[in-house]
Amino acid sequence: MAKDVFTQHRPQWKTHIGFLLAAIGSAVGLGNIWRFPYLCYKNGGGAFLVPYFIALLVVGIPLMILEIGLGHKMRGSAPASIAVISRKWEWAGWWQVILGMFGILLYYSVVISWCLNYFFFAFNGQWGSDPNTFFFKQFLMVSEGPFEIGDLRTPILLGLMLVWFFNWLIVFVGVQKGLERANKIFMPLLMVLTALIVFWGISLPGASEGIKLYLKPQFNRLSDIRVWMDAFSQIFFSLSLGFGVILAYASYLPKKSQIVRDAVIISFVNCLFSVFAGFGVFSVLGYMAHNTGQPISEVVTESIGLAFVVYPKAISMLPAFSREFGLMFFAILVIAGLSSGISILEGITSAIIDKFHYSRKVVVSALSIIGFLGGIIFTTRAGILWLDIVDHFVTNYGIIIAAILECIIIGWIFKAKKLRDHINHFSSWNLNKCWWDISVKVIAPVILGGLLISTILEEIARPYGGYTRLALLVIGRDWIVLTVFMAILVSASAWKVEPKHRIIEH
Ligand code: ALA
Repeated sequence: MAKDVFTQHRPQWKTHIGFLLAAIGSAVGLGNIWRFPYLCYKNGGGAFLVPYFIALLVVGIPLMILEIGLGHKMRGSAPASIAVISRKWEWAGWWQVILGMFGILLYYSVVISWCLNYFFFAFNGQWGSDPNTFFFKQFLMVSEGPFEIGDLRTPILLGLMLVWFFNWLIVFVGVQKGLERANKIFMPLLMVLTALIVFWGISLPGASEGIKLYLKPQFNRLSDIRVWMDAFSQIFFSLSLGFGVILAYASYLPKKSQIVRDAVIISFVNCLFSVFAGFGVFSVLGYMAHNTGQPISEVVTESIGLAFVVYPKAISMLPAFSREFGLMFFAILVIAGLSSGISILEGITSAIIDKFHYSRKVVVSALSIIGFLGGIIFTTRAGILWLDIVDHFVTNYGIIIAAILECIIIGWIFKAKKLRDHINHFSSWNLNKCWWDISVKVIAPVILGGLLISTILEEIARPYGGYTRLALLVIGRDWIVLTVFMAILVSASAWKVEPKHRIIEH
């Protein structure tokens, strides 16, 4: 290992379990409890589980191994790691962390703010007897279209301020004292609360109807390319792959690390958590259908609002302890959201520190102010519409293209074999040449590329979500284009210390 000052001063996880909990905390997030159920619901119930698990095995786990292995070897953030391989491609590393910060975290923090508001609403069931109208008309006050921005929604703005305060506080104090300590509290709490909610949910009358829909899926939906794209993009979103988070977290690992085993544990815990939480969500859907006498398909009208409509409705219908149920559910969302949000903030923080050597405190403070200000657009009356469009473009195009680039840069330019040798040197679970190299070099990029092209064609034929083409281009496409420009701009400046000085050689 090179002995420069910077190497010695790189933060490190205090314990191995601390790293695992932080990485699981990053993976398990709103994606599992808010996004996964509505994607499932929208895409034929449990039919979604088929492409979801295919995506996990074919690209999720190989790329999780790649990101942990690369972060470990280069001991650097995404741009630092890629810059060692090729300075020409450094922008692709910046693009990852910029996508995470400006493509995801800006709106992600707003969804946590919704959850925070709902946590307080849960004290007295403020959503009343019609949570659908409450969520869309009273709370969000959704405008007629994305270009009718309208006023700021003060409760959401105040919640956002609080979320950014927590983001700031945890990342500000650093890897061990902030991220590791927070996740050591967050994760056990999250698991216990979720288990309580799920077992409560499946004990409700009618739950079996919902679970049936979950486990007996509509397989005809699998011929729709959007279902597959949703599954693959959900895997990346959910495993926090392609936006520079896992790389940063892995760069704080000690030299002796079990890269493959950790990658498998993190990926499986995350996906099993989604499936487990899905039981809770679908049980509640069944309970509601049972209680109202409506078919499940009519219980919810807007998939993106599923967590904010179905749960409140079910909570109001509970015969006992409804307040406790509500508080627990929204606490789960806030905790899961924060533990992922801070990881995205850490991804870009470590990148800026790596390149410019500013102090962590300055970087985190500046990013938190920018993040809060940037998120304001999503707190307006058109907020959910912007959020929906940006989320669609960032997850279906941004992260997917970033992941394809990652496969090409590591698989072909750096050479998958070189990284595999590094990983195998430290891991007791060895990577098989045929499986891993081929996954990274060929299978993952080809599948992702194919899906990307089909999605673009599909988008041209049938614009997403019924929005106008203008709205999709200006808000969605241009958002992505802007992040690319930012990435190219930052990558053009000089390094304070050559990133290659940090690499672990063996
Ligand atoms: N991995 C995080 C989530 O699923 C971003 O919410």
